[in-house]
Amino acid sequence: MSNSTATLTASSKPADIPVVPRARISAARVLVVGDVMLDRYWFGDVNRISPEAPVPVVRVQKKEDRLGGAANVARNAAALGAQAGLLCVVGHDEPGERIVELLGESKVNGYMERDPALPTTIKLRVLSRQQQLLRVDFEDAPNHEVLRACSDRFTELLPQHDVVLMSDYAKGGLTHVTEMIGEAKRAGKPVLVDPKGDDWERYRGATLMTPNRAELRDVIGSWKSEEDLLDRVTKLRAELDLTALLLTRSEEGMTLFTDSQVVHTSAEAREVYDVSGAGDTVIATVATMLGAGVPLVDTIVYANRAAGIVVGKLGTATVDYTELFA
Ligand SMILES: Nc1ncnc2c1ncn2[C@@H]1O[C@H](COP(=O)(O)OP(=O)(O)OP(=O)(O)O)[C@@H](O)[C@H]1O
Ligand SMILES: [Mg+2]
Repeated sequence: MSNSTATLTASSKPADIPVVPRARISAARVLVVGDVMLDRYWFGDVNRISPEAPVPVVRVQKKEDRLGGAANVARNAAALGAQAGLLCVVGHDEPGERIVELLGESKVNGYMERDPALPTTIKLRVLSRQQQLLRVDFEDAPNHEVLRACSDRFTELLPQHDVVLMSDYAKGGLTHVTEMIGEAKRAGKPVLVDPKGDDWERYRGATLMTPNRAELRDVIGSWKSEEDLLDRVTKLRAELDLTALLLTRSEEGMTLFTDSQVVHTSAEAREVYDVSGAGDTVIATVATMLGAGVPLVDTIVYANRAAGIVVGKLGTATVDYTELFA
């Protein structure tokens, strides 16, 4: 028998993880700040080509809306049982209202700043027979006054929360992220950041950053070995004054880098259906567990377990308390 084909999709039951009492999780108050979006899906049949242009005509039969971006992160924290707040900017429009409605259904406390000139960020997919025919995006950067109002609201909300989570999707909602991180740190609150883009100077001082492989590579370059990776991450953490960095490595699991240790956790998924949103689940779980009083190094087993569950799901991209500790 050969043992050379070690895979990450072993069918063995994952090791047991210590149970965090539900009461501790429901005491965790997580404030998510960032770019919200609405993921909208229109499904229908195509039976003809348009007489107006050589394009298919879709007769829409079903519509679906899902929370995206920072709203999906907040929804994940709420699903686990945390008290999740979401500070963000939306427009004065139907998609903005829909986001408010979905946040309510997900038990997320929405703190929305409205920018009447802003189209709420929305990604509309038109699908027929499982095929995506077109994606239409609406987005724009929020205006200056609204961002100011957001910063003021952040100051107000900070004392009522235990952990701050910045979910950056580069739509402009986190223009003042550096100041917010500084403020939260001065108040003694851990700040978690899911980054976007290669300018990480703006995340200076964060407690934990959670890039995926491509995002980290864009900032520190390609690494040749695990040792080389450690050197590069150590240098980056020192430069940006980051307490820790959690590299999410898709099918390879995740690695946490801190001053005193490097901890790796292998991926747990048994069957993978839909990997999108796994990063949102990871950071939401770390934030929730930190808020519940779990030490940072111990949070990653929960994050890894939750991500392993979520990639095995089609559609709903959250994990609840019962599933996590099943
Ligand atoms: N193919 C996979 N098999 C098993 N586990 C996976 C797989 N893909 C992702 N995961 C789990 O999800 C975690 C996060 O995945 P990944 O590193 O792809 O994040 P991401 O790129 O930020 O995701 P996204 O931005 O789509 O939400 C991984 O650390 C792992 O635990
Ligand atoms: Mg991600």
